Amino acid sequence: MIVPAFSFPLKDGRTAVVRNPREEDIPGVLDLLHTTAGETEFLLRYPEECGMYTPEGEKLLFDRMNRADNEAMLVCLVDGQIAGNCQITWSKRIKLRHRASIGIGLLKAYWNLGIGTRLMQELIRIAEENENLLQLELEFVEGNSRARALYEKMGFRITGLKPNAIRLKDGTLLHEYSMMKELRRGAKTELPTE
Ligand SMILES: CC(C)(COP(=O)(O)OP(=O)(O)OC[C@H]1O[C@@H](n2cnc3c(N)ncnc32)[C@H](O)[C@@H]1OP(=O)(O)O)[C@@H](O)C(=O)NCCC(=O)NCCS
Repeated sequence: MIVPAFSFPLKDGRTAVVRNPREEDIPGVLDLLHTTAGETEFLLRYPEECGMYTPEGEKLLFDRMNRADNEAMLVCLVDGQIAGNCQITWSKRIKLRHRASIGIGLLKAYWNLGIGTRLMQELIRIAEENENLLQLELEFVEGNSRARALYEKMGFRITGLKPNAIRLKDGTLLHEYSMMKELRRGAKTELPTE
């Protein structure tokens, strides 16, 4: 999906640009995938598992996501460098097309500058423009308090927990939480008790 580009001020006074990915972004996005995998335990890959990401694969992915009407990728650039990216995607299947999933990842050097907040606002705006969508969904790993704080600030609430969903190299087991945000009145908001 093509989304109009925009810029916004960071908490440190610099300006960030947000837009759909282009071919020239491929090295920066590959570096982002690799670097973030080593900077946090809260993403689902280790750096040595990033070999599956190739320039050709990223080009195909950018082209597909930019053309699609049920998914979008955005990159965030600061001083011309890729600082992070985010995605929103939803199924076209009738029973599932009311639910969109989102994901976001930033290089550590750009945490706490307001980028996550602004990208989340944009993903919510994209979702609200699609009248089929009733809810936004995401997951976060136990201990990711920065992500949880951001999501709660944006109106998400915890809807579930998958025990021991993540196992780190040292054997540590971590739960994975599901969150959602209702976009429209009329969606069921109560969780079943059985
Ligand atoms: C999680 C992430 C997307 C947040 O983006 P960000 O740009 O750092 O977030 P923002 O600066 O917009 O906002 C973060 C908020 O959390 C707060 N915060 C920061 N550290 C925190 C902590 N340890 N505990 C609780 N809240 C924290 C900040 O104060 C800020 O709130 P405020 O805007 O009300 O002051 C980003 O840090 C990131 O990419 N992390 C690594 C990858 C990752 O975890 N992705 C999410 C997977 S679910």
